[in-house]
Amino acid sequence: MELIVAKSAGFCFGVKNAMDKALKTAEEEKNVKTLGPIIHNPDAVNLLEKKGIFVVESIDDVKPEDTVIIRSHGIGKKELLDLKEKGVNVIDATCPYVKNIHNIVEQNYSKGYKIVIIGDSEHPEVKGINGWCDNSAIIIKDVDEVNEEKFKNQKVCVVAQTTFNLKKWHLIASKIIFYAKESLVINTICSATEIRQKETEEIAKNVDLMIVIGGKNSSNTKKLYDISKDNCENVIFIENADELEVEKVKDYEKIGITAGASTPQFVIEKVIEKLSNIIDLDEEVSNEDIDYFS
Ligand code: F3S
Repeated sequence: MELIVAKSAGFCFGVKNAMDKALKTAEEEKNVKTLGPIIHNPDAVNLLEKKGIFVVESIDDVKPEDTVIIRSHGIGKKELLDLKEKGVNVIDATCPYVKNIHNIVEQNYSKGYKIVIIGDSEHPEVKGINGWCDNSAIIIKDVDEVNEEKFKNQKVCVVAQTTFNLKKWHLIASKIIFYAKESLVINTICSATEIRQKETEEIAKNVDLMIVIGGKNSSNTKKLYDISKDNCENVIFIENADELEVEKVKDYEKIGITAGASTPQFVIEKVIEKLSNIIDLDEEVSNEDIDYFS
């Protein structure tokens, strides 16, 4: 059996940066909280709790004596001001690529552009971006949502959720340009996402079974699952090695593995280890070693 592990599987730069800041802060401060889970992975959230980093869902749950880490998704301008007004020690771990979108949105909103975010309105990153234009953005997830009525005579500044699917972005952005009067279109899809999506597509085309590892509520992992389904007949989506049913995978000749940006290295390694225990691996191409929580 051959096992191909995507080199881009696991933490991206922004998530790694946020994790580094969180772990360092936990060593130096007490009452460390994150506003929402720092990454969408239950195993990692549990381990962070053991290190004294707890999740709060709302600013109302934050006390002035707390140190609050803003995760890589970022937050809106008002939320940031509210935290500072409370006197909280704020550690901003917003990914620089997301921060860049906040700046684009804030600047162009002040110049009179209607902000359009291509992404999922329920995703915290999109909610945060919308918070830099007074929550006035048009948020579009599907090409069918773009119509003449919405964009006629509009002067729009279009950005994307960093983890949005590239092909879908092109379709939606093109249709907006067709209807709008003036369009400033900035592709803010993160290259880490692009690379991971392209690598997933390539591997999925060349294997009999694709295993996608990540949190069930991680949108970028779900996108990897969709891409895998489009390119490979057999795809399994698991959160960790416990969910891997060995009977279902043992007869495949060529297996591919990919993982979302929030999947810790130790979770990926446990899946590979479980596979190695049940099958004879002819070859394994492994991704970079990031030694978290070891
Ligand atoms: Fe940042 Fe890209 Fe990761 S935007 S959080 S490096 S997916």
